Amino acid sequence: MVQNLSGKPLSGAEHKALRLAIAGCGGMGHRHLYGLAELQQAGRRDFELVGVCDPVEANAASLARQAQDLLGKTPVIASKLEELAQLGVDGIDITTIPRTHHTVALEAIQRGWHVMVEKPLGVTVRACNLIRRTAEAAGCVLSVAENYRRDPMNRLARALLQTGAAGSPRFIVQHSIGGEDRMTITVWRHQKSEGGLLLDVGVHFTDMLEYLCGEIDTIYAQTRLYEPVRKNPAAGSRGAASNPAGVYERWQREMPAEFVATAEDAVYAMINFKNGATGQFIENHAARGRPVWLRQVFGSLAAMDLPPDRTGQEITLTLGGGEALRGEALLELVPDFALDPVTAQLFGGDRLAGYKFPFPEIDRKLLAVEYADFAAAIRGNQSPEVDGVQGTRSVAAVYAMLESALLGRPLTVAEVMAEQVDAYQQETNTGLGI
Ligand SMILES: NC(=O)c1ccc[n+]([C@@H]2O[C@H](COP(=O)([O-])OP(=O)(O)OC[C@H]3O[C@@H](n4cnc5c(N)ncnc54)[C@H](O)[C@@H]3O)[C@@H](O)[C@H]2O)c1
Repeated sequence: MVQNLSGKPLSGAEHKALRLAIAGCGGMGHRHLYGLAELQQAGRRDFELVGVCDPVEANAASLARQAQDLLGKTPVIASKLEELAQLGVDGIDITTIPRTHHTVALEAIQRGWHVMVEKPLGVTVRACNLIRRTAEAAGCVLSVAENYRRDPMNRLARALLQTGAAGSPRFIVQHSIGGEDRMTITVWRHQKSEGGLLLDVGVHFTDMLEYLCGEIDTIYAQTRLYEPVRKNPAAGSRGAASNPAGVYERWQREMPAEFVATAEDAVYAMINFKNGATGQFIENHAARGRPVWLRQVFGSLAAMDLPPDRTGQEITLTLGGGEALRGEALLELVPDFALDPVTAQLFGGDRLAGYKFPFPEIDRKLLAVEYADFAAAIRGNQSPEVDGVQGTRSVAAVYAMLESALLGRPLTVAEVMAEQVDAYQQETNTGLGI
């Protein structure tokens, strides 16, 4: 660990800023910039944004303009990584479409840069393994920007489970149901060659399942493509399609009003965890009528209802007999629980049972926490919280569902992670030449 003269560990505020580039200047590239600004406004100069890269010049220029407004300095605009080679980059944040995560990551690692990659780590398990092995061989930091687990409510849920507040976990439910025939944010999310909706959304949930209940062992699933034609209500100048953090509308206006979806839009899975717990996983992005979102852990002593990620709503723990505990009563069960200092500073306390901020603010706070984690890993103070192995596991768990549905039998996450089963992913891997 780096120390100052008094022997105290240096905080982000005291360090010389690390030189950062962002590759991928679409929706998430902009949201990451807001996270970086949030960190800077909290007095932490972990990074200096020196370059932004996107083959779409208007997107890179937009990010550079907003960086000037928010960070007070305009980064170099590039269409290729090589144009950033002279900037002394320490780390790169990859927020491109999933299909190019591995190409950008491999080039960055070869240039000697540390990498943080948005979820999913790669568009297939093979793409993940390529990134992971290349980073390991080069000895560079590989961090996965998985934000849901960093939500203070998910931190508290895990602490409660680890303390045994619910007893031993027996059954976990993860349901996300809705969507009708609307486009989810972008056209690429509905294409199999880009990973598809089940990977784009599901990888958050598989990461959360393992974060809460430990490693998944086996998965058996059925998948469907219910809505092969998707509608974009934002096309032209009409309403907005799904638009998290309010950044996507300008691109959605340029996207077609209707398009063909090639990726499955629903999965129904049974999951077995190594600790003996069982889970039921439903992700249906084509359901009509009332949407449903559920995450529940049923243990030998109590049932835990978790709130939707990034809402700050409270957890409820219902004890055998029916008594329901919330808020302070939950914190009393975990006397040693404390959020990490950066999360505590940004969310306003190190022991939170709930919080209230508008969504864009919650979003940028969690992205700021990811950046602080990446900086600490580059400085050698800690390993990144979500490393290449966990990032690959979460992708492998989603593909275990898709591969299981194709083969009609249960699969282990381990065999999918080892690429022993990859029939579903072959078309994508072949298209990418990997
Ligand atoms: N963690 C979250 O909550 C969350 C939310 C949204 C998106 N994401 C992830 O962020 C990533 C980007 O998603 P998005 O919504 O911003 O997509 P987007 O389509 O809005 O933006 C992607 C950008 O990447 C650029 N790009 C493509 N190939 C590139 C390359 N080789 N080099 C540099 N730039 C390149 C595109 O031109 C585009 O500007 C995806 O991996 C997605 O899953 C995560």
